[in-house]
Amino acid sequence: MSNDSVSKTVVVATLLCLVCSVIVSVAAVSLKPIQNENKLLDKQKNILAAAGLLKSGQSVKDAFSKIEVKLVNVSEGRFATQAELTELGVSDVSLYDQRKAAKTPGNNVAVPADMDIASIRSRAKYAAVYLYRNNEGGLDKIILPVHGYGLWSTLYGFIALEHDLNTVAGLGFYEHAETPGLGGEVDNPKWKGQWPGKQVYKSDGSAAINLKKGGVEVGRPQEVHQVDALAGASLTSRGVTNLVQFWMGNDGFGLFLDKIRSEGV
Ligand SMILES: Cc1cc2nc3c(=O)[nH]c(=O)nc-3n(C[C@H](O)[C@H](O)[C@H](O)COP(=O)(O)O)c2cc1C
Repeated sequence: MSNDSVSKTVVVATLLCLVCSVIVSVAAVSLKPIQNENKLLDKQKNILAAAGLLKSGQSVKDAFSKIEVKLVNVSEGRFATQAELTELGVSDVSLYDQRKAAKTPGNNVAVPADMDIASIRSRAKYAAVYLYRNNEGGLDKIILPVHGYGLWSTLYGFIALEHDLNTVAGLGFYEHAETPGLGGEVDNPKWKGQWPGKQVYKSDGSAAINLKKGGVEVGRPQEVHQVDALAGASLTSRGVTNLVQFWMGNDGFGLFLDKIRSEGV
């Protein structure tokens, strides 16, 4: 065929497309397990980081081996039974995809509008929680997944509580699309550093932790529940207050935390 013929151009272009698509497909399929493993490692890293359990020089895998992953029936405030895990098709709880479940009919529940302060519309029936025990086997820290709407995006993260299930051990978001320098300051280590030691609940049991516009009221009784709001980002700040209060309240992990507070874990 002549180089200038239409048929040769079409044949060469088609062959080139075929070869390229085979290369891309092979790469996508063969890299998938590595991608999944890296995704899992990243999630584990964020869980450890929220609880301040990621020591420098230690691998994520080693640090995470001390974490126990459990599924919780959120509405009923208890650990999921084996029968529930079987029905859910979960054989390895560490691979449970709560975000996918939150969008899957049958595996999710709608959040009524009047209770949906985190603007999530629906949540997974079962949530993965992460337990870190002390050397005697008692609970040292618990790490809980949280999410809710900010200004531009849903923020996904983890909050870690100390063994009293009231004192914050840390908070961190691993995904959001708030504006860098404004709402994106949720990732600022200095801001995150204010969370450890704060108290989630008031004496009446309500979730009182909040981001205070104008700054924490130093010396006032409410100081223990306050973290500075993000400068120039009132809407993201309100979103973070709402999502933390939602997940710490009775429509989130409130019932579960009450149960393990009275019965232990
Ligand atoms: C380009 C642009 C990006 C913004 N990004 C955010 C944001 O990520 N989070 C936020 O709360 N406000 C953001 N704002 C500001 C809000 O529109 C609003 O003015 C602000 O939340 C009010 O906060 P303030 O009362 O602390 O000033 C952004 C504004 C602009 C113009």
